[in-house]
Amino acid sequence: MASKFYIDNLAKHVGQTVTLQGWLYNLRSSGKIKFLLLRDGTGVCQGVMVKSVVGEEMFAKADQLTQESAFAMTGTVRAEQRAPGGFEMDVTNIEIISVAKEYPITPKEHGVEFLADRRHLWLRSSRQHAIMRVRHEIIRSIREFFAGRGFTLLDAPIFTPAACEGTSTLFETDYFDLGKAYLTQSGQLYGEAGAMALGKVYVFGPTFRAEKSKTRRHLTEFWMVEPEVAFNDLNDNMDLAEDFLEHIVSNVLKNRMPELKTLERNIQKLEAVKRPFPRITYDQAVEILQKNGVAFEWGNDLGATDETIISEQFDRPVFVHRYPSEVKAFYMKRDPQNPKVALAVDVLASEGYGEIIGGSQREDDYDVLLQRLKDHDLPQEAFDWYLDLRRFGSVPHSGFGLGIERTVSWICGLEHVRETIPFPRMIYRITP
Ligand code: 4AD
Ligand code: MG
Repeated sequence: MASKFYIDNLAKHVGQTVTLQGWLYNLRSSGKIKFLLLRDGTGVCQGVMVKSVVGEEMFAKADQLTQESAFAMTGTVRAEQRAPGGFEMDVTNIEIISVAKEYPITPKEHGVEFLADRRHLWLRSSRQHAIMRVRHEIIRSIREFFAGRGFTLLDAPIFTPAACEGTSTLFETDYFDLGKAYLTQSGQLYGEAGAMALGKVYVFGPTFRAEKSKTRRHLTEFWMVEPEVAFNDLNDNMDLAEDFLEHIVSNVLKNRMPELKTLERNIQKLEAVKRPFPRITYDQAVEILQKNGVAFEWGNDLGATDETIISEQFDRPVFVHRYPSEVKAFYMKRDPQNPKVALAVDVLASEGYGEIIGGSQREDDYDVLLQRLKDHDLPQEAFDWYLDLRRFGSVPHSGFGLGIERTVSWICGLEHVRETIPFPRMIYRITP
């Protein structure tokens, strides 16, 4: 098979004649010379076509190329400091693959709903490329992090028999003769079974919440990565989350600087994301809010604006631990020192981005857990297998879940999570 050439690899082919395949990003023309911007997914390369070199016919052929037409461009690669990507091509030939109809997305400004309706095309723009590549880097770093520490990937089911994160955000579906099934809100409970089997595991997959909230942080379908570790207490859990976040951010800085530049991200703010992160209790968080004039009552959950105020006090992510148990999930262990609070921890991202991680030490006592299920009106039969984990060799254990889209939004410095996932699903959007 003849090898193919890609724009991100042109440095190796300076002086050679190669063929690039891609789409027309832009075409500028004067009487004697045409500048063809070809994008191939790996970058953009400017082709310089001179009439006196290619002849009348070839020169005229290029005029058929509309924005996003597919074509192949052949020529000699030349280093050019001023060109985007650093290389240009002296074009000797083009082959048209398909001529595009009038392309709806033009260099002018479009409204976000207009673009969202055309998400399948919007993904072709340089800003979206940058976001998708940062997302890719984050996911790659996550897998690398866990692989390097001896974790085993444990895939959890998506159809589940019961709620894990509260009954108000469940997507329900009929499941043959077995009644109702629900789309998973979190793979955690299965991760716990995995931790008791394999010690250190992580679950990584799509999760679903029928969130009624129309905010810049909420999707109905999002990706979550959830490590779960046997014998880890709450502090161990925070240590793990801290290493994990530092690893992700430093990899993005190391490998995706051009993308961060495209996004005009403030790099210094990301460089500050270094261990140790501050660790404050919920009580201290409440004090911060009250000092900032928020009439916040102990016992409430932190809302988005509360999180923003707290995270703005620090230059790096902050742990908030020991929330009132009443506002947290049934599986969280209560603090033996103070049963009014749970051994829960959230990470609030810097720059006001709010919660990106939620986690806890898990209740490991059979009787207490059974009581929690009853308190939360959860069906005991559906959780009987989960109770087995406390019947047979129960140990202290902890874990957390990181939301991929909120993390991408924070690292890229975006306004809204809708740009962080290829095809966002929100309360008011299920297309394209
Ligand atoms: O805090 P949450 O609900 O925690 C859990 O689901 C635990 N079972 C995780 C665990 O301990 N294994 O969700 C975890 C993270 C949040 O911090 C947030 O980043 C993200 O998932 N998240 C959402 N992201 C986008 N849209 C939504 N509707 C989200 N809900 C949660
Ligand atoms: Mg949470």
